[in-house]
Amino acid sequence: MTILCEPAARAGQLSPALGDDVRIAQTLGEVSRLLAADPAETLVVVGSAVDLDEALAFTANLRVERPAAGVVLLRDVLDVVVLTRALRAGVREVVARDDLASLVDACTRSRALSAQVTGVPQPRADERRQGQVITVFAAKGGCGKTTLAVNLASVLAAGGARSVCLVDLDLAFGDVGICLRTEPVRTIVHGLGMVGHVDVAGASSLLTACRPGLSALLAPVEPGDAERIPAALVSELLEVLPTMFDFVVVDTPSAFTEHVLAAMDASHHHVLMTTPDVPALKNLRVTLDMLDLLSYAHDIRSVVLNRSDAKVGLTMDDIERVVRSDIRAHVPSSRDVPISVNKGNPIVLDLPRHPVSEAISRFAREHVLAEPAVVATKSSKRWFR
Ligand SMILES: Nc1ncnc2c1ncn2[C@@H]1O[C@H](COP(=O)(O)OP(=O)(O)OP(=O)(O)O)[C@@H](O)[C@H]1O
Ligand SMILES: [Mg+2]
Repeated sequence: MTILCEPAARAGQLSPALGDDVRIAQTLGEVSRLLAADPAETLVVVGSAVDLDEALAFTANLRVERPAAGVVLLRDVLDVVVLTRALRAGVREVVARDDLASLVDACTRSRALSAQVTGVPQPRADERRQGQVITVFAAKGGCGKTTLAVNLASVLAAGGARSVCLVDLDLAFGDVGICLRTEPVRTIVHGLGMVGHVDVAGASSLLTACRPGLSALLAPVEPGDAERIPAALVSELLEVLPTMFDFVVVDTPSAFTEHVLAAMDASHHHVLMTTPDVPALKNLRVTLDMLDLLSYAHDIRSVVLNRSDAKVGLTMDDIERVVRSDIRAHVPSSRDVPISVNKGNPIVLDLPRHPVSEAISRFAREHVLAEPAVVATKSSKRWFR
């Protein structure tokens, strides 16, 4: 169903585009009463006759009170000022009042988003969690960061006992959405208008519900959008998300970008991946030296060796000599890993007794769930710059 707020004379022209079950309200007060009486309603179309300031105040309030409900705003004239103010207030789309085809599309997109947001946990205003941020990084590509991040988040959320948010910081080539077979209707790019004032309602509106207990903040899909994301947005989101989730797992690109450093700064745990080959080990060594240089605490670090059983002429001694620290998880190689990715079902859920799943679950149990959280040293990045 849809609620349309528009005087009756004008509403008649719009209602055919909104379907048979549209309910017409003359004022925003009436919309509020209809919403209160129907907790399942997720779409309000605010007509062009409604004053802009009133429409935006109503939307900003609805975003906090009912994040799953969306507002599509109609205006006689679309200009940049109206669009910017509307997006800041949390309006999902602004459509020219005569453009009925765009109105239909905007309503479809808003309903699809509401269906996803409905599964995202909505913390009450008085409920603030102190979740842990876990950043998974490797300076060499293809070491298994995404595989570990997706499976770690899935195992931590398994059964919905804990709430977990998986953040895809591989902004240009992120594939978390694909691994979880999730449609990227909302991505981090929709948070651009929130820079400087990210709050719980704003952050929740960017998330996609994937499974019970597991939500994701997906990477942009359009080419070029990655460059538009400022590191400040990442920092702000990583301050707000831990107040909403027990764990925030961050997947990263294989480069020390500003965004990765923002995640490292916000993290309680740095998980550094490698594989048993000389280029990956060399890059891990450089990464460890870099983290030392930035004065991040050693005890928040875990080195994870992926494809640990690969027979490639290096002994465990050779590997430990380079790494100079304990290896906290050995994840074996198995063709079942890419098979699970192709199915869009993480291996820890698909085959929980598989040696890969057991290695990741043990790591989660012994090194993530068991250890007290300490946040990374914050001053280091400024010094580095
Ligand atoms: N233990 C494993 N056994 C078999 N295949 C694996 C294993 N871990 C990862 N893979 C496969 O290796 C490929 C690279 O893994 P993944 O995408 O997780 O790496 P990444 O570090 O995220 O790569 P990128 O740097 O491109 O983001 C994928 O096809 C994945 O399915
Ligand atoms: Mg990856």
